[in-house]
Amino acid sequence: MSLLEKIDRREAVMGIIGLGYVGLPLAVACAEAGFQVRGIDIDAEKVAAVNHQESYIEDVTSERLASLAERISATTDYAVLAECDAVSVCVPTPLRKTGDPDVSYIISATDQIARYLHPGMLVVLESTTYPGTTTEIALPRLEEGGLRVGEDFYLCFSPERVDPGRKDWTTQTTPKVIGGVTPACLAAGEALYGAAMETIVPVSSPAAAEMAKLLENTFRAVNIAMVNEMLLMCEKLDLDVWEVIEAAATKPFGFMKFTPGPGIGGHCIPIDPLYLSWKLKSLKFTARFIDLADEINSAMPEYWVVQEQAALNALVKPVKGSQILVLGVAYKKDTSDLRESPALDIIHLLGEKGAVVVYHDPYVSAFNHDGMAMISEPDLAAALPAADCVVIVTDHSVYDWAQIARQSRLVVDTRNALRDRD
Ligand SMILES: NC(=O)c1ccc[n+]([C@@H]2O[C@H](COP(=O)([O-])OP(=O)(O)OC[C@H]3O[C@@H](n4cnc5c(N)ncnc54)[C@H](O)[C@@H]3O)[C@@H](O)[C@H]2O)c1
Repeated sequence: MSLLEKIDRREAVMGIIGLGYVGLPLAVACAEAGFQVRGIDIDAEKVAAVNHQESYIEDVTSERLASLAERISATTDYAVLAECDAVSVCVPTPLRKTGDPDVSYIISATDQIARYLHPGMLVVLESTTYPGTTTEIALPRLEEGGLRVGEDFYLCFSPERVDPGRKDWTTQTTPKVIGGVTPACLAAGEALYGAAMETIVPVSSPAAAEMAKLLENTFRAVNIAMVNEMLLMCEKLDLDVWEVIEAAATKPFGFMKFTPGPGIGGHCIPIDPLYLSWKLKSLKFTARFIDLADEINSAMPEYWVVQEQAALNALVKPVKGSQILVLGVAYKKDTSDLRESPALDIIHLLGEKGAVVVYHDPYVSAFNHDGMAMISEPDLAAALPAADCVVIVTDHSVYDWAQIARQSRLVVDTRNALRDRD
């Protein structure tokens, strides 16, 4: 039976490599479409959790996993790929310490797929990466065994756009961009994802799909940097940036509202544009917007530490020895995701200045990051008045802002959470 027939009959078995924020929701979407799903992860704890239907991702409830127990199983053993008709790669694409892309996870996953690649198999790369990765890195490895792309197996790139914590757009409802190495590859990818997702957006090549994802994330990084700089400019001009933004946002066309804050976090916005600028450097082109946005956004934690220093100074208090309560350490509200969170930089910088830093986050009970191990304050009502200064970094919906305003002695609000806004 051909791959397209197997997909049509929901008899295709789907492998998903990397069961994180992207892979697990994708596994659920494919299982809900009727496919058997085999998840593969090097993290044995995640594998065990999936097999016990215990979700560790906010967007997927354990009940939802339990309802799909017959269709989703997980393993650390790549040999399961031998029984898979298609496989999606959802492994991390971080930066190395030097700031260069680290595609080693993609390489290792692709090398494993190559071992089990068989005729008729579809491989889809989902991890965000620089244009060219699918054809320059994945394709030669997959063809090493003698099978030919577009004839013996199919290869596509389809960027994941999941926004963790978001309720209105899900893996199923967010339009899915996909590019195939050949028309037959695209047809296979469209058929598989079209069965699980509402809208498929085909593009002419994997590189176009890779670039589309980087355009989306660069758009956000640049606009956030622009509005962060607007905050600095308004301060110089003695203007309230929030009033200015609200006024500008009343324009019914040609304006999109972005808001300043403590900096940027998560897996995508701080990192993905740097994949693009790295690639362009190899072509002797400087991606100036990306570099500037990175510089401005990365400097925001420092800006807020200066604000805290100034606020304490006004009360004739040094930062050194002051107790500072950081509210929220996750990079975005209503999630536990700490990756690249600017809260961690703020805590680190305050610690360097001798502050006694504590934090509260209803979603992050403890963390250990780069040798910084902390436990969330158990009792917010006690922690608020005990602090010399409260710094609001993450505007989790569960926070009671009236209580925070009432019980805090001094507040530095990086999110404008204490003011009514939409
Ligand atoms: N998190 C997001 O919001 C988001 C959104 C869109 C795109 N992306 C992109 O998707 C990719 C995955 O991101 P994520 O947020 O799901 O990461 P994640 O860290 O949550 O999950 C990645 C998973 O891959 C596993 N893994 C690592 N190496 C592996 C290997 N060789 N074999 C099998 N499993 C392996 C890890 O154990 C982990 O469970 C990245 O490229 C990211 O940029 C992320």
